[in-house]
Amino acid sequence: MSATALPPTAPKPPMLPKPVSRQAALVLTHDLVNAEYRHLVLRTDAIAAGAAPGQFFQLLCPAPPGEAPFLRRPMSLYGADPAAGTVEFLYKVTGAGTRGLATLPVGGRLDMLGPLGHGFVLNPAWRHVVAVGRGVGLATLGPLAQQARGMGIGVTAILSARRPELMLSDMLFRRHGAEVLAVHDHDGTSAPGAVEAMLRRLIAAGRCDAFFTCGSARLLRLQQRLAREFGLPGQVALEQQMACGLGMCFCCVRDFEVGGRTVHKRVCWDGPVFDMLEAVA
Ligand SMILES: Cc1cc2nc3c(=O)[nH]c(=O)nc-3n(C[C@H](O)[C@H](O)[C@H](O)COP(=O)(O)OP(=O)(O)OC[C@H]3O[C@@H](n4cnc5c(N)ncnc54)[C@H](O)[C@@H]3O)c2cc1C
Ligand code: FES
Repeated sequence: MSATALPPTAPKPPMLPKPVSRQAALVLTHDLVNAEYRHLVLRTDAIAAGAAPGQFFQLLCPAPPGEAPFLRRPMSLYGADPAAGTVEFLYKVTGAGTRGLATLPVGGRLDMLGPLGHGFVLNPAWRHVVAVGRGVGLATLGPLAQQARGMGIGVTAILSARRPELMLSDMLFRRHGAEVLAVHDHDGTSAPGAVEAMLRRLIAAGRCDAFFTCGSARLLRLQQRLAREFGLPGQVALEQQMACGLGMCFCCVRDFEVGGRTVHKRVCWDGPVFDMLEAVA
């Protein structure tokens, strides 16, 4: 069906406070996924376990030896199971905060605040959507597969990584019935021209009612160009350094183009998921 006929899909800023909890969540498992990423599963209360794809938590990371990470660190939801009372994160060790996170033992506790922001919005009228992500963005997009499957919406995921061994979320997408197209730098399949050819094939086959993307400004620009050419909607989950994560400090403000005007929005409060066509990449 024509995506241009669909109602606007841009998530709206929350009008009312949503339930948010702060808790010392119990670490159930904490495993290395590959050379760069770790998978953390926590037992949480019902509010946290009710988080939606695209939302995030503010984590008070433990201090690693000799360091004192200041402020909480934002982390996207990788999985939530209300029945089991669990929340999952997939993260890359990059600095003091995530180095501290990596020291958490099974049976330890993590101070987490959330869920925060608002996530992806799926239109029940869509039949098939395309998720395009890279790096840490693959963790953010992963839970979309389950949400889409629950609504009977098919997904093709174009997952980009530097090397095959650094691929993330591919199993999660496959488990929920998505078609996975893995692309890599080492063989040139992740080059913009190659990804564009894949996207054009999906659009021509009627398998792209909307784009969902995270983790790459280059891939965002490519999808914006195709979305404008074919009149398709899309959503992007943005990452921005944050302090409060609660809409109060304005340190996460970015420019957006809305109706021909530049407007400023807080990524933590107005997003982190935005209308893809309004994002300035
Ligand atoms: C909404 C949101 C969701 C996120 N989800 C995930 C996720 O699921 N998995 C994951 O691994 N990471 C995620 N991140 C990024 C994560 O918050 C940063 O990697 C983390 O804050 C780094 O903290 P650190 O103390 O380890 O490193 P720092 O010492 O603070 O920084 C290390 C490096 O990472 C950069 N950096 C720090 N914070 C951010 C940020 N917010 N965005 C981009 N670069 C940053 C710094 O500029 C520096 O170069 C997310 C960020 C946001 C805003
Ligand atoms: S991080 Fe404070 S307003 Fe967004």
